Amino acid sequence: MSDRPKHVPVGKLPELGVVPETMSAYVIRPERFGEPKKSFVREDDVPVWDIGPDEVLVQVMAAGVNYNGIWAGLGKPVNVLKGHGLDYHIAGSDASGVVWKVGELVRNWKVGDEVVLHCNHLLEPGVSDLQTIWGYETPDGSFAQFCRVQGQQLLPKPKHLSWEEAASYGLTYFTAHRMLVDRARVEPGNDVLIWGGAGGLGVFATQLVAVMGGRAISVVSSEEKAQLAKDLGAFATINRKDFHNIAYKPGMTPEEEKAWFAEVKNFGKKIWDILGEKKGVEIVFEHVGQQTFPTSVFLAEKYGKVVICGATTGYDLNFDVRHLWMRQKQIIGSHFADADSARRANRLVQQGKIRPVMTRFFTWDEIPTAHQLMYENKIHGTVSCLVGAPVPGLKNYEETVRAINAGAGR
Ligand SMILES: NC(=O)c1ccc[n+]([C@@H]2O[C@H](COP(=O)([O-])OP(=O)(O)OC[C@H]3O[C@@H](n4cnc5c(N)ncnc54)[C@H](OP(=O)(O)O)[C@@H]3O)[C@@H](O)[C@H]2O)c1
Repeated sequence: MSDRPKHVPVGKLPELGVVPETMSAYVIRPERFGEPKKSFVREDDVPVWDIGPDEVLVQVMAAGVNYNGIWAGLGKPVNVLKGHGLDYHIAGSDASGVVWKVGELVRNWKVGDEVVLHCNHLLEPGVSDLQTIWGYETPDGSFAQFCRVQGQQLLPKPKHLSWEEAASYGLTYFTAHRMLVDRARVEPGNDVLIWGGAGGLGVFATQLVAVMGGRAISVVSSEEKAQLAKDLGAFATINRKDFHNIAYKPGMTPEEEKAWFAEVKNFGKKIWDILGEKKGVEIVFEHVGQQTFPTSVFLAEKYGKVVICGATTGYDLNFDVRHLWMRQKQIIGSHFADADSARRANRLVQQGKIRPVMTRFFTWDEIPTAHQLMYENKIHGTVSCLVGAPVPGLKNYEETVRAINAGAGR
């Protein structure tokens, strides 16, 4: 007979390194595809993952919410279960937690290590066709008591952060770091225009530009967001609502296009005013896509770069290529991060130079609600959910065990 406990309820922890047979998890199944309130269903008898030689089992303390979980639950645009072949899926691509078991080939991590994760499963995005996003294209994500990751996905948890803060930043921050530092190669003195400067990627892009010795001009859509960007080190902010017709829309009449371009030039003059000279920006941080991309290409300085990782408003991009070639600009694609860039990015968080901007946390019971609110666009910034941590504010394993023994939470 096995001496493994059958199950340990959420709110308690098994002894360090002891792996129960089953765990509680929010499980997506094809018959429940739909909005998060339907697709995220708690099950308490999910087998805990077996691990391979290069893998690690992590006791999840908190898990970060991102849109991937919503797509997985909707079963759209792809049915991720067909990709990984299991008949259920546990979402969640961001987490903080404690190493609970290690495979025999994992040498640099041990049981008890406190960690955060990056979600790049295998190698450098782009280099390997096998590269997948863990917790989206794999079934073993973080909205569960235990998650299974490759050893290369682990990073040290910044000691000064709570579990929920530590779970909140990986996906967005590592993407922004990769875009600016590795792909666009931001340099001291660079002026950088950041669309969505107070959004998920933008809060980190704004901080990074300041840390790297550049000047961030962060575009926002409210005074509240402008204040946040300034608090994060923006050199200046621009409220895009002050400019009418700034969004490019395909199919505009010649008159409408003329009016749009006049407003783009006004936007450019605003940048001249901010910089105190008639120059563009060395880098534009792009992810909005169709509505901003032609403006981004136009506003980049001679030899400037537009670095792009997404297209929220549409991926069918239209721009005047003369602005690109005549002034020898570059368009640079970027996609998430690799283990090395995530490690370098995480060191800046460990050193307190970059901070997570967590706007809200949710409890374990509220995990479907957190996703539903994101689905309904009622959440801004990054949010995370408690899993093994019984209450917010706990920063390490010992503190967490003490809190549980003192009856904290649930
Ligand atoms: N390839 C990758 O590895 C990767 C990784 C992460 C994210 N992404 C993609 O990057 C995009 C942004 O992600 P996120 O987490 O930063 O999203 P987010 O938190 O929703 O922030 C996006 C920001 O864009 C701004 N925005 C929205 N519509 C706009 C418009 N029409 N014109 C100008 N600005 C607009 C908004 O800021 P204001 O309203 O304040 O201007 C918003 O805060 C998404 O499409 C996501 O899928 C890609």
